[in-house]
Amino acid sequence: MENTLPTQTNPSVDTPKDSSSPQSPVASSPVAAASGAVAGKPPAECEGKIICGKCIKGGIPLKREFLSFLVIFLVGALTALTVFYVQAKREVLTLSRAAAQPAAAAPAASASPSAYPASKERTYATTIQLPAPNTTGGIPLNRAIATRRSRRAYADQPVSLSELSQLLWAGQGITDPETGKRAAPSARESYPMTIFVVVRNVTGLEPGLYEYLPKTHSLGKMSVSNVSTAMKDAAVQEGALQSPVAFLISTSFGNYQAKTKSTTVTATYMEAGHISQNMYLETESLGMSTVTMAGFDSNKVTTALQIDPAETVLYIMPFGHTAPEAEEE
Ligand SMILES: Cc1cc2nc3c(=O)[nH]c(=O)nc-3n(C[C@H](O)[C@H](O)[C@H](O)COP(=O)(O)O)c2cc1C
Repeated sequence: MENTLPTQTNPSVDTPKDSSSPQSPVASSPVAAASGAVAGKPPAECEGKIICGKCIKGGIPLKREFLSFLVIFLVGALTALTVFYVQAKREVLTLSRAAAQPAAAAPAASASPSAYPASKERTYATTIQLPAPNTTGGIPLNRAIATRRSRRAYADQPVSLSELSQLLWAGQGITDPETGKRAAPSARESYPMTIFVVVRNVTGLEPGLYEYLPKTHSLGKMSVSNVSTAMKDAAVQEGALQSPVAFLISTSFGNYQAKTKSTTVTATYMEAGHISQNMYLETESLGMSTVTMAGFDSNKVTTALQIDPAETVLYIMPFGHTAPEAEEE
């Protein structure tokens, strides 16, 4: 359809001199044409209005202005999003690089442990042969497991040599003389554990400190004189101060490492657990009382009892007949 509206309402406006001159895009736009707008001059009905619905002040058609605004808005939003994304990406990269770095102050996990000194050969003033242990009797194993408890109060009653023999055999006794294997398992058959015995009230034994010698199932008497005072000096727990016997389950980390060439000593702690459990069950079988204690300072114990400082006491187990008023925990 032919456009019958005038394209020029204001004669004062310059028009192109010839058809080859570039035409105003506004003037040539169909909207502008429809609204009668000319670039820089709104149609008469829009005069004085900022936005009239057809064009904005200056005569620029509204549709074109809206599209321009939309394009500018989209370009701006896209730029803002790109900047935001680049910054976030940089932050993530920095954080992941920091996480991949080992913490400067963290100790090296693979630091090798220091070598421990081996304990010295020990000599004894006297050795006392223990009675042969009972290796077939006792209460049924399942009953011993079912009734085992830690008991911390002991009767003022002596322990017999055969009761002592039984406990030491269960802990570290040799059960296969051909191979030398013992009642409790040992890492690579290293047998790095020693049981020292604090004797206060055992029939037929002088009070004092002894070492259990598995190869001969005997006790070697050590030199410390007053064990009761020594145990007080070592600040051990109450139960271990009043029981007729206290077993000290000890290890030499140095001996263990020399025998196994291992760089760690963890297995010695586990061996203490095996030994202690055997002794718990043997105690139950005898109807007596014990508890395993780890709450003490080994250095204080070895110093007070004049034990080779290369030894580390891991457990103390007081042992005796059950006190009538014994509490169970
Ligand atoms: C590694 C270890 C350390 C322990 N240390 C102590 C201790 O220092 N003093 C103590 O009275 N009991 C000690 N116990 C005994 C626990 O208190 C006891 O096993 C626990 O109360 C559970 O009771 P039960 O043995 O009668 O089943 C220790 C037990 C373990 C396994």
